[in-house]
Amino acid sequence: MTIQEMQESIQKLKKEKDICILAHAYQSQDIWEVADYIGDSYGLSVQASKTDSKTIIMCGVRFMAETVKTLSPDKTVYLANPIAGCPMAAQLSKNDVIKLKEENPGYAAVCYINTTSEFKTVCDVTVTSSSAVKIIKNMPQKDILFVPDCNLGGWVKKEVPEKNFKFFNGGCPTHRKMTQWDVKAAKAAHPDALLLVHPECRAEVAEAADYVGSTTGIMIFAEDSDAKEFIIGTEASIVQHLQFKLPDKKFYPLSQELVCPNMRATTLADVYNCVKGTGGEEIILPDDVIAGARKCIDKMIELG
Ligand code: 13P
Ligand code: SF4
Repeated sequence: MTIQEMQESIQKLKKEKDICILAHAYQSQDIWEVADYIGDSYGLSVQASKTDSKTIIMCGVRFMAETVKTLSPDKTVYLANPIAGCPMAAQLSKNDVIKLKEENPGYAAVCYINTTSEFKTVCDVTVTSSSAVKIIKNMPQKDILFVPDCNLGGWVKKEVPEKNFKFFNGGCPTHRKMTQWDVKAAKAAHPDALLLVHPECRAEVAEAADYVGSTTGIMIFAEDSDAKEFIIGTEASIVQHLQFKLPDKKFYPLSQELVCPNMRATTLADVYNCVKGTGGEEIILPDDVIAGARKCIDKMIELG
């Protein structure tokens, strides 16, 4: 079967079976082409709460599929490849947050969406990279316990100086690999390029950037900008997508190390098997977890 034949079969089967395919922006081009919606974590959550299809397939990582199930408990939700999990979501457990909250009384627990649904049941609100600043500004509480990504948290703190923050030393193992030395080398190689980075990068990288934002934010900035060259400080797939979308501009990865093995785990064949009913994993969550996590995610949609 060729890529095109596999894509045609997926398109046919998803119509027949009333399936909606959601794909995170880090997914490969061949998956983008069969998706009904592509976006960053925030966009996917909003889309998940709107779709009418009976079945949803998430091409991304596990916490994204759990978010979809939490927002649409009556729908059948699949994670296209069951091994795709975000390591950041395993850095802190629900009991760790309970302990942190006891140690920091009065602080509102704000969790990054890259956490499990169980984890979200003990937090006040969840945020994404594109919604964190707005949500935290809109919260009545002044004292914020931001978990688990201290790099994203540190960037939000600079944007919302009027609030007090406490952090946990967690973060994305892929984005954390980039340092000021990568920035120096990339800028020396491409002196006319603008640097666009994800807020999961270290502060020393974000501080050197011309733009800091979510995966979708980076793509929109590159499209709207008059500049012709860009160094991209997020998962390497975004460099490829930008090259397809804007062939007259040039895009360079901040480093060859910017590859998330979990986001790369899902293939077009996984999507094909999932649509056929011979692959993927159905996401099942206990009712109390759905109810607890829902409050946290609904609050994000309300404030964001
Ligand atoms: P976005 O919120 O930009 O989609 O980021 C999700 C993610 O996992 C980045 O590494
Ligand atoms: Fe998780 Fe980082 Fe991969 Fe995003 S890039 S899914 S935060 S490990």
